[in-house]
Amino acid sequence: MDAQDNRSSNVVWHQAAVTRSGREQTNGHNSALLWFTGLSGAGKSTLAHAVEERLHSLGAKTFVIDGDNVRHGLCGDLSFSNEDRVENIRRIGEVAKLFVESGTLTLTAFISPFRSDRAKVRSLLDDDDFIEVYCRTSLDVCESRDVKGLYAKARAGEIPAFTGISSPYEEPENPEIVADTGTLPLQECVHQVISYLVDQGIISRK
Ligand code: ADX
Repeated sequence: MDAQDNRSSNVVWHQAAVTRSGREQTNGHNSALLWFTGLSGAGKSTLAHAVEERLHSLGAKTFVIDGDNVRHGLCGDLSFSNEDRVENIRRIGEVAKLFVESGTLTLTAFISPFRSDRAKVRSLLDDDDFIEVYCRTSLDVCESRDVKGLYAKARAGEIPAFTGISSPYEEPENPEIVADTGTLPLQECVHQVISYLVDQGIISRK
C-alpha cells in the first residue's frame, strides 16, 4: 500500500509524551532494526535468535519477528506470489518500525527476496536505524541442508514459486553486514553483528 492508497480519512496523529529517546534512555541502549535477509535455510532465524540471546544476556530489550511464525498469524492470509510477498514485507516493515519506536532492538528474519521491498522498509526508518544483514549462504548449501525438506518438494514441483528454485532472490547490493552463515561458525557471525552494534554506538557493552 502506497501513501496515496491510504483510505483512513479524518485521522489525526497523536503525539505521545513518552518518546523513543526517553525509552532508549531507560533501556540503556538505542533501538534499531536488524533486517536479516537470505534464502530459505540460509540461517536467518538461527542467527537472529542467537544475536537476540546475546543481547538479552546483556540486559537489552529485544524482539525477533520471524517469517515462519508471522505467516501463522498476521500474514497467514498471504501466499508466496510476488504480490503477497510484497505485502508481507510491507506489513512487517510497518510493525518493525513500531517496535523500533518502542525502544526495542528489533530483529526480523524474512527471505524478503526483492530489493525494492527492502529499500521501502529502509526508507520508513532513519538512516542509521536500518541494518541489513545478508545471510550469505549459497543455494547449494541451503539445498543440501534442506532442514524443512522444502527444497526437495520444490524440485519435485510440489511447491510453486519457491525462492531460489522457481522464484528469484535478489542479493543485497550494499548491506551493512554480510554474514557468511554458510561457512562460518554461528558464534563468529553473532560476534560480527554484536561488534557492529557496538561500533555504531547502538549498544555500549560486549
Ligand atoms: S518472504 O519471501 O515473504 O519474505 P518469508 O520469510 O515470509 O518469505 O517465509 C519464508 C518461509 O516460508 C521459508 O523459510 C519456508 O519455510 C516457507 N515457504 C513456504 N513456501 C515457500 C516458497 N514458495 N518460497 C519460499 N519459502 C517458502
